[in-house]
This record gives sequence, C-alpha cells and structure tokens, in this order.
Amino acid sequence: MNITIVGTGYVGLVTGTTLAELGNSVYCVDIDEKKVEGMKNGIVPIYEPNLEEMFLRNIQSERLFFTTNLKEALDKSEVVYLALPTPPGEDGSADLSYVLKVANDIGEMMTDYKVVVNKSTVPVGTADRVRETISSKTTIDFDVVSNPEFLREGFAVEDSMNPARVVVGSSSEKAKDIMAKIYQPFTNTGIPIIFMDEKSSELTKYAANSFLAVKITFMNEIANYCEKVGADVDKVRLGMGSDDRIGHRFLFPGIGYGGSCFPKDVKALIKSGKDDHFDFQILQATEKVNISQKIILVSEIEKYFGGNIKGKKIAMWGLAFKANTDDIREASSLDNIALLLEKGAEIIAYDLIAEENVKKLLGDKISYANTMYDALEGTDALFIATEWPEFKNPNFDLMAKKMRNKAIFDGRNMFPLEVPQQKGFFYKSIGRKT
Ligand code: UGA
Repeated sequence: MNITIVGTGYVGLVTGTTLAELGNSVYCVDIDEKKVEGMKNGIVPIYEPNLEEMFLRNIQSERLFFTTNLKEALDKSEVVYLALPTPPGEDGSADLSYVLKVANDIGEMMTDYKVVVNKSTVPVGTADRVRETISSKTTIDFDVVSNPEFLREGFAVEDSMNPARVVVGSSSEKAKDIMAKIYQPFTNTGIPIIFMDEKSSELTKYAANSFLAVKITFMNEIANYCEKVGADVDKVRLGMGSDDRIGHRFLFPGIGYGGSCFPKDVKALIKSGKDDHFDFQILQATEKVNISQKIILVSEIEKYFGGNIKGKKIAMWGLAFKANTDDIREASSLDNIALLLEKGAEIIAYDLIAEENVKKLLGDKISYANTMYDALEGTDALFIATEWPEFKNPNFDLMAKKMRNKAIFDGRNMFPLEVPQQKGFFYKSIGRKT
C-alpha cells in the first residue's frame, strides 16, 4: 500500500519506518527542509536505539521517501497518517492548530478517496473536527479514523514491531478494511486489532497513559509511606506485583514521571474533563503528587547538610527523563537542577546522550563531565536522576576516592540498599531505609 505520513517527529518517523518495514511504500512529509534533506541522506533526526538500521534498510529498499511536498505525497497515497505535534496550551488543553491546518490542506489538495488517520494523541472529538475541516474544502469521499500510538521512547522499534494491540476507531467499514489490511502482518502473528468508534479510540490513548501515571504515582506514595513506617518498598512492590491483576510493570518508585506524554496527557484529560463539566479527581491528585515527588530528594539533601546547601558541589548522574533517550522534556533532572541552583548549590552533570539538549536549555549554568567518574571529582554528594544502565554497578571505591564527601541521593533506586552502605556511603533512595 502507498502511505503518506505528515510530520516526522518521534511518532511520525517511527510509524513511517515501521510501515515501510511491513512492506508499504511510505512518503514522509515535513515542512522542515533541512530535516527532510538530512533524512534523504540517511540522517535519523532522533536518538532511538535500533531505529537507524531499520530506517537505512528501508531507504535503500526504496520503500521510505521524504519530501516537503504534501500534494506530491498525497497524490501517490490512499492513506494519510497525521503525526503532528499537539502541544499543551497554557490551560493544559491540546493545541490542534497543526492537525487542523494539515486537514485543511488535505481537503484542498485531494483528488480521490483518502483515509485520514489520526496518529497523534488528540482529545476526544478530534476525528469529528478533522472530518468537518476536510469536508469544508472538498466534496470528494474520504474517511477519518483514530489509530493511537502506544510506543515508548527508548523501545520504539521493539514496541512498534510488536505492539500489545492495535486500536482503530472508525465508523466506516471501507476505512476499517483498509486499516485491517495495513496491520495484517501484525494480526497474522496474533497481535489483536481492536475496532471501536473514533471517540472511544481517542479516549483509550488518554486513559492508558493516565492510568500508568496513576499507577506510578500510587507506588510513589506507597514508597513515601514505607519510609515513614520503616517498610521497604522493593519488598512491597514485589509482593504486590506478583498478583497478575496488578503486574510488576510500572510499579517502580522514583522521582516522578516525566517525558513528553504522561504529564501532557494527564493535564489534557483533566482539562477535557473540565470542559465537559467532569471532575477528574484522581488525575488532579496524581498531578499534584507527581510535582512534589520530582523534587522530594532536595529536602533530603538539605536535611543531610544541616539545612544549608549553599556552595555544595553536587554531581548529577543522568539528565534524560528516563534511560535510553536523549529526551529531557519534563525531566525530573531539570526540576532538581533549578531548585538546587536556587539554593546555591553547584552542579556538575553527566549524561552523554542528553547533555546536548540540556546545554541548549541551561548553557553554562551547570557544568558537564565526560565520564560518570569525572563528574564526581571533589563533590559533596551524588544525585542520580536517570536510570542509565551504566550506573547500575559502579566502582564504589573509585567513587569514594573522587568525592570529597560520600553521600548518594538516588532518585531511581539503582543499587541494593546494602551495597553503597557497606562501602561507607550515606545512601538515600526512595521508599527504603537510609
Ligand atoms: C509513554 C507510554 O508508556 C507509552 O505507551 C506511550 O505511547 C507514550 O508515553 C506516548 O504517549 O507517546 P514514554 O513517555 O516514552 O511512554 O515513557 P515511559 O517508559 O512510559 O516512562 C514515562 C515516565 O514514567 C518516565 O519518567 C519514567 O521514568 C517513569 N516511570 C516509569 C516510573 O517512574 N516508574 C515506572 O515504573 C515506570
């Protein structure tokens, strides 16, 4: 099948590459000429493990193309995926201007039947708005379907080639058949495709992300309570997660959830609820708890240093919002850096993958080290903000030599409790004994 993808951000690029890998001819459209030129020359504009190989393979096989010309791509395709940004506005609602602008262009440019697929995370009712926008520009037959994306950053290739399910919201039988054909390589291997109406599909995406945000936040509160009563959250987590109604995943406590999805989607669902006179109490609580959870270790650091951290030199391991990505959107590291700087601390950070993005944002407000051990030179404490695998089994003796004071504040529970303690470190993690 010939498919156009409009928008080559994270979701668009991964979707386009995956659909090419499944044997389709895919035309990726973006307004950014420099980016398109780069992609034509094999440059992957995002960091994502294993993506480059698949991307290059499909360019070489002439199944993956890039252009700035929407009309040219549209003329070749029966199916058009919209993978455009929906940034949160001031009030938390998703800004649909990019989506609706392209819908308008499609209406003006199309010359035959199209299935327009909303891949971006969009509020309930967006398929109807896209339909109205296109209808206002054309009398040619078309359908709009909702097909939310569930992949995780850092595991995009794995998730997109082996999704837990494909959700398609469509009220048209013709569009349903076309979507079933696109995803047949998945359904053939037993991956379910779940058809529903457009609104239910749109809400499924928000409900899934919000539920996971609630699950993490619930565990963060249990962790905080563990500290109060002297319980160990690692044990509680294992005990709870073994019940397969609960499951082990997304039960890891830490310094809150970040990234481009959970914070934005929780906010957007609260706002949609408000617009419909519906009060999402559990999501409001989740958002509030997460904001304080992100910076929960700063007060611990202050307490440790007797209330004053002015002039303290703190190493930060990890800047990305989670491991295996260079993404720093809503990263807990940033909230902690801002607060620690405000309180007069000095920060030396290490994160080879996300460093460039933080430099663009913070410049020389903090300094950067080339290795995790260099970051520790002469520091009073280590703060771990991201669970990069290289931090899992460090050389504690070398760390002790480099640091001028042996204190670790671990926002990601990287080590068994006793390991740093046996090496003489003060070790504060989340939901475990100090
Ligand atoms: C999330 C969802 O997991 C994807 O299914 C969804 O498609 C995506 O959002 C999206 O809407 O595009 P992502 O933001 O890439 O994916 O990252 P996650 O792996 O879900 O992690 C989100 C945040 O939760 C991170 O800050 C992570 O550190 C935190 N987290 C995750 C925890 O604190 N504890 C956990 O047990 C799991």
